[in-house]
Amino acid sequence: MGILRFDFKFPKEVIMHRVRIGVIGTGGMGTGHCNTMEDIEEVELTAVCDIDEEAYKPLVEKYSVQGFRDYRDLVDSGLVDAAIVATPHYDHPPISIYAMRKGLHVLSEKPMAVTVKAAEEMARTAEETGVKFAVMYQSRSLPVYQAARRLVEKGKLGEIYRTCFVDPHFRTQAYYNSAGWRATWRGEGGGVIINQAPHGIDLFMWLGGLPSWVTAWIRTRLHDIEVEDEVHALLDYPNGARGYYYTSTVEHPSGSYMELCGDKGKLVVRDGKLYFWELEVPVSEFAKTSDQMWASPEAEQIEVPLEERETGHKAIIRNFARSILYGEPLISPGEEGVWSVEFLNAVILSGAKGKPVEIPIDRGEYEAFLEEKRRTSREKQVEQTLRITDPRHVRR
Ligand SMILES: NC(=O)c1ccc[n+]([C@@H]2O[C@H](COP(=O)([O-])OP(=O)(O)OC[C@H]3O[C@@H](n4cnc5c(N)ncnc54)[C@H](O)[C@@H]3O)[C@@H](O)[C@H]2O)c1
Repeated sequence: MGILRFDFKFPKEVIMHRVRIGVIGTGGMGTGHCNTMEDIEEVELTAVCDIDEEAYKPLVEKYSVQGFRDYRDLVDSGLVDAAIVATPHYDHPPISIYAMRKGLHVLSEKPMAVTVKAAEEMARTAEETGVKFAVMYQSRSLPVYQAARRLVEKGKLGEIYRTCFVDPHFRTQAYYNSAGWRATWRGEGGGVIINQAPHGIDLFMWLGGLPSWVTAWIRTRLHDIEVEDEVHALLDYPNGARGYYYTSTVEHPSGSYMELCGDKGKLVVRDGKLYFWELEVPVSEFAKTSDQMWASPEAEQIEVPLEERETGHKAIIRNFARSILYGEPLISPGEEGVWSVEFLNAVILSGAKGKPVEIPIDRGEYEAFLEEKRRTSREKQVEQTLRITDPRHVRR
C-alpha cells in the first residue's frame, strides 16, 4: 500500500479542529514562526513564552494570546495542544521533554539538542509518551531533496562508494555579537557546526547515511569567538565508502555542493539544482567485463521530475499539524533529528582530540568533554541583544 498523501489545502473555515500551538522562545525564529502560522489553516497560535517579557509582549498584543515567562506555565495552562520550541539549543531537550510528559506534541528547532545523549532522550520520551515529535529541518521539504531521497530509496545509485558535501555560510562579527549565547561553549555548545550546519548535515545523513568514522579538523579562522567557524572532515562509512565534509561561516559567495557517487549512478545537488546520471552497466561490473582499453559505461543524464510543493518553515509546521490531526507521516521526525547531532558531536570531538572518532560516539566521553568546555567558557559581553529574524527565512 502506498503512503497516504494529503497535498490538498483546506480553507480555514472547513477545518473543524485546529492544533492550538504555543511558541516557547519568541526571539528571531520564534517570532518568525508565530507570523508564519497566520498562513497555516491547520494551526492556531494560542500562547507564547519567553524568559524576557519584552520578547513576547508584541506578540501578545498582535495576536491577542496569553504570554508566559516560564515554559512550564505555558505547558500547564491548558491553552495548547502542541509546542514549538525555539529557544537556544541547550534548552530544547528539557523544555521538549517536560512538554511531552504533559501530553503535548512537540516541534523542536534545530539542532534538537547539543549532545546526542540528550537528543536520544527526547526521541525516547516521544516514543514512550506517544506524542508527535518533529524537528525543524525545513530543507527536507525542498523538491530537489525530496526527489534525491526518492532516488536513494529506490536504489538508483546502487551501493554508494564516495560522498562529498561542501556547505559554506557567511556570518559577520555583528551577528555573533547580537546575543550572549551565540558562539559560546556555555550558551550554544559549538560554532558553525551546531548552528548553521545542522540543516545541511541532516540532508547529508538523510541521503548518504551516517559514517562509521569521522576525522575532523576544526578551527576559528576569522571571527572573535571561542568556538569553531571552519570545519573539514574525512568520513569512513560502514561499507568502506569514503567521504569529505566542509562547512564554515567564513566564505562568500556561499551555496552548497553535495555529491553521492554510487555503483549504478551519480547524484549532485548544486546550488539547489539536482543532477542525476544513471549508468547502463554498474562501474564494478563494467570495469571487470569490458575488453576495451579506453571504454567507460554509458551514463545517461536523467531529467528528474520535481513536484510542486509547499516548502520551508510553513511546510514543516503544516505537516506537524496534519500529523497530529490526520496521521500524515512527518517530513522531519524527531528520531531522525538524532543523526545530525551524532555527526556534529563526532566532528567536534575528533577536531578537539586530533584523532578519528567512531560513530556511535561514546556518549559519556562527549558529555564530559562538553562539561569541561562549558566550565572554562569565556565570559561574553553583549552591548545590545538583537532578536532579528533572518530575512531569507520568513515572510515578515
Ligand atoms: N530553522 C531555522 O531556519 C532556524 C533559523 C534561525 C534559528 N534557528 C534556531 O532557533 C533557535 C533560536 O534561535 P534565534 O535565532 O531565534 O535566537 P534568539 O536569541 O533570537 O531567540 C531566542 C529566544 O529564546 C528566549 N529564551 C531563552 N531561554 C529560554 C527559556 N528557557 N524559555 C523561554 N524562552 C527562552 C530568549 O530570551 C530569546 O528571546 C536556535 O536553536 C536556532 O538554532 C532555526
